[in-house]
Amino acid sequence: MATNRTFTMIKPEAVAAGNAGKIIDMIIEAGFKVKAMKLRHLTKEEAGKFYEVHAERPFYGELVDYMSGGPIVAAILEKENAVADFRALIGATDPAEAAEGTIRKQFATSKAENAVHGSDSDENAEIESNFHFSAEEIVG
Ligand code: CMP
Repeated sequence: MATNRTFTMIKPEAVAAGNAGKIIDMIIEAGFKVKAMKLRHLTKEEAGKFYEVHAERPFYGELVDYMSGGPIVAAILEKENAVADFRALIGATDPAEAAEGTIRKQFATSKAENAVHGSDSDENAEIESNFHFSAEEIVG
């Protein structure tokens, strides 16, 4: 059953560039409600575990180094059709292919350093939310 929730991370290069506030503004403007949010610096081990599904990909090592290279903002977002609508808001993985008006078009610097993460399914949204947040950290 659809939960109407998705999970996002504002990635290290976007946080370091001071773009977290602008990205959060775009997310709220698009109609998402923030149900949980925190600033965290992932260890290499945590980043590796989060992106475990990509372990066999050639970019995995680079991805783990990047995602543990500085603080990220993790959040749970709520909206009808949250997963699909959030992926539309962030745009394609590669900013060169991202549509005008999307977060990645505006803030991503490359396919690897692409400013934000968005869950790709309801199931993964729940798994990823539970990876970063306990039940007490999510508002009702
Ligand atoms: P994300 O949507 O968070 O999920 C997997 C991440 O891997 C992706 O964003 C990028 O940060 C990274 N990624 C995907 N494809 C590539 C690639 N070809 N080269 C380097 N990093 C990539």
